[in-house]
Amino acid sequence: MNDTMNLLLWGGIPYAVLAIFFVGHWWRFRTMKYSWTARSSQLLERKVLRAGIILFHVGLLMVIGGHVGGLLVPKELTEMGGVSEDMYHNVAVVMGTVAGLTLTAGLLILAVRRVGNARVRAASKVSDFVTIGALIAVVATGMVNTIGVQILGEAHDYRETVSPWIRGIFMLQPDPALMASAPAAFKIHALAAMLLFAIWPFTRLVHAWSVPITFPVRPNIVFRRRDSVAR
Ligand code: HEM
Repeated sequence: MNDTMNLLLWGGIPYAVLAIFFVGHWWRFRTMKYSWTARSSQLLERKVLRAGIILFHVGLLMVIGGHVGGLLVPKELTEMGGVSEDMYHNVAVVMGTVAGLTLTAGLLILAVRRVGNARVRAASKVSDFVTIGALIAVVATGMVNTIGVQILGEAHDYRETVSPWIRGIFMLQPDPALMASAPAAFKIHALAAMLLFAIWPFTRLVHAWSVPITFPVRPNIVFRRRDSVAR
């Protein structure tokens, strides 16, 4: 890949995606505040939804934890804390596999339900199918990284390439050459993730920012009690 292509993919597209992400959310909130919802289909089917949602979100939280630890925390810092590269790698692949499989199971249940349940399918928008497709692309390529490359293939120390690259993007000091030297599987995963971030503001994924801290203890759809209706 030539330098111009690398500059575009790993220096230009990330900022274009960040701009779409932030301006898109602002636009969505300003113009369609009342569509800011997970558009739960709990009323149409609840049993499969519950299993899928729990596995998906538990897996996702674990995957996010792994990404923060592996991408945002500099290698030098964990080494200062006594974590060797071997130790990091072993924990990352074991935890990553558990987290990734949990997320994959949840995502597959939700995807099959959305396509297979006639009522849920009929109530879905095109953006719901696009979102699921993008999530499958990101999660599948993530699993290829962890299982295909890190466990079964020739393990790559992405804390020397992908991690400083993404920190450079956030710190406004992009270094596309770092990402250019990563294996293809890692590049494809990062591109899929950027696609997901670019469509995020235009999908039901916006519900993620509505501080869903009470989600585990409240129904997916909140019903008003009969006796609380103003008289
Ligand atoms: C640009 C953003 C992202 C980058 C640079 C990135 C990078 C990585 C890397 C380096 C791995 C391998 C980790 C290891 O084996 O130790 C990985 C795995 C994975 N990623 Fe990402 N990722 C990004 C965004 C995402 C997003 C948004 C999701 C989910 C919606 C995701 C889902 C996964 C999954 C499921 C795995 C396999 C399980 C795991 O190791 O956690 N990634 N990713």
